[in-house]
Amino acid sequence: KGCYVIGSTGSDDKKRWLLEEAGLNAAINYRSENLRTALKAAAPKGIDVYFENVGGAHLDAALACMNLRGRIAVCGMISTYNGDREGVRNLSVMIYGRMRMEGFVASDFPHLQEQFQSDMTGWLKSGQIRYQETVLEGFERAPEALIGLFEGRNAGKMLVRL
Ligand SMILES: NC(=O)c1ccc[n+]([C@@H]2O[C@H](COP(=O)([O-])OP(=O)(O)OC[C@H]3O[C@@H](n4cnc5c(N)ncnc54)[C@H](OP(=O)(O)O)[C@@H]3O)[C@@H](O)[C@H]2O)c1
Repeated sequence: KGCYVIGSTGSDDKKRWLLEEAGLNAAINYRSENLRTALKAAAPKGIDVYFENVGGAHLDAALACMNLRGRIAVCGMISTYNGDREGVRNLSVMIYGRMRMEGFVASDFPHLQEQFQSDMTGWLKSGQIRYQETVLEGFERAPEALIGLFEGRNAGKMLVRL
């Protein structure tokens, strides 16, 4: 779609994969780099759209870089699910930044599903989109898979094969 895309991930190996395989324009290791400094460096022109999956410190860092009338789609806030509700300190930048933040739930968009499937099939076939999967064998490993998401034990989508 022509966007300049910045990703955040928790290891240098995953960061390398994002840059070299997935083709992102920039990537940050949120465990070893200072989020705010790294994001400012990765987004010298600021951010127009932030797809929120993490919350907490990631949201804080993104807010500090948002452009005028920037949009934030709130899909998930995984860093807050275990009660570690790190305060977001700079929501007030939304005021003069005329920003919008809106909850995003995938099932709200059934009318786009067919288009999405057709687009995505094409992008996967052409190699424009690449992905990874981590597959654990057996239902008894479901708890390990769920807990693993919070520790980044997965590369790509975490799946359990029944
Ligand atoms: N709104 C919706 O319709 C919808 C539907 C499904 C899921 N979600 C949300 O979407 C998000 C992604 O879910 P998913 O199932 O697809 O999982 P996922 O992205 O495949 O895996 C979760 C990833 O979150 C990262 N993570 C975990 N704890 C973190 C922390 N404290 N700080 C920063 N990153 C952290 C880890 O990244 P690294 O491996 O790089 O460390 C981990 O690999 C979640 O927030 C989930 O709640 C929303």
